[in-house]
Amino acid sequence: MMGDPRDRLPSAVKNLSELRAFLDDPGMLAALSPDGWANRATKLAIEAGFERDRAVSLMRDYIAPSLDTTISAISYGVMRFAQAPDQWAKLRADRSLTKNAVEEMVRLNTPIKSLSRYVASEVEVGGVVLPEGSRVMMVFGAANRDSARFENPDAFDIERNTKGHMGFGHGVHACLGMHLARLEMTLLFDALADRIERFEQTGEPVPAANSSIYSLERLPLRVHV
Ligand code: HEM
Repeated sequence: MMGDPRDRLPSAVKNLSELRAFLDDPGMLAALSPDGWANRATKLAIEAGFERDRAVSLMRDYIAPSLDTTISAISYGVMRFAQAPDQWAKLRADRSLTKNAVEEMVRLNTPIKSLSRYVASEVEVGGVVLPEGSRVMMVFGAANRDSARFENPDAFDIERNTKGHMGFGHGVHACLGMHLARLEMTLLFDALADRIERFEQTGEPVPAANSSIYSLERLPLRVHV
């Protein structure tokens, strides 16, 4: 659905099988750092009555959706600031803008391009009937560039009203880690703003081949401290 299954899929499946094997390993829980959050969260889930497999699946839900998404939002964010130095100057001058800047980075770049939902019962959306039992693809990136919702949607504007963007999804399955991601990005960009006067792009960014997450293979930059 999201790309040519012949090239990227086999290597992705290989990575996933390694993750699966790690999680299935009976010695895995014992090998976790005793004071770490992974150990604590898994043990609490088991104490709360989850089967081991379910508790470990919860752990996978913290590993799989958390890393590349945040990396994508941060690296594209740096790219946007390199391309719009006025926005970086604004952020450096007024740190109360950092939180909204993070939302704007997630809106404009939308790390997760799209996901799908199962249609449990027939419903009409925008004049289109979605039949029961079908699957509907939600293209978050398109929603986030909807000019009916966001004025001049392709522009990177850290002061715009970002309310209602779909970068973290929507509804009961909206991103579970959004608060952590926001906190990480806010702290990081504040720390960068303390030290970096400007980012200078020194070459063309190279997008990575990834069927579900926008990511960069390379971003040639010079950093002026
Ligand atoms: C900037 C970073 C991130 C972005 C853009 C992002 C985006 C998303 C999106 C679009 C969804 C699907 C929402 C939907 O179906 O409506 C999602 C789900 C999810 N995310 Fe994130 N995410 C980020 C970071 C994280 C982090 C750091 C974690 C965990 C620590 C995380 C854990 C999850 C989980 C567990 C789900 C599934 C929720 C469910 O199906 O009920 N995400 N995320």
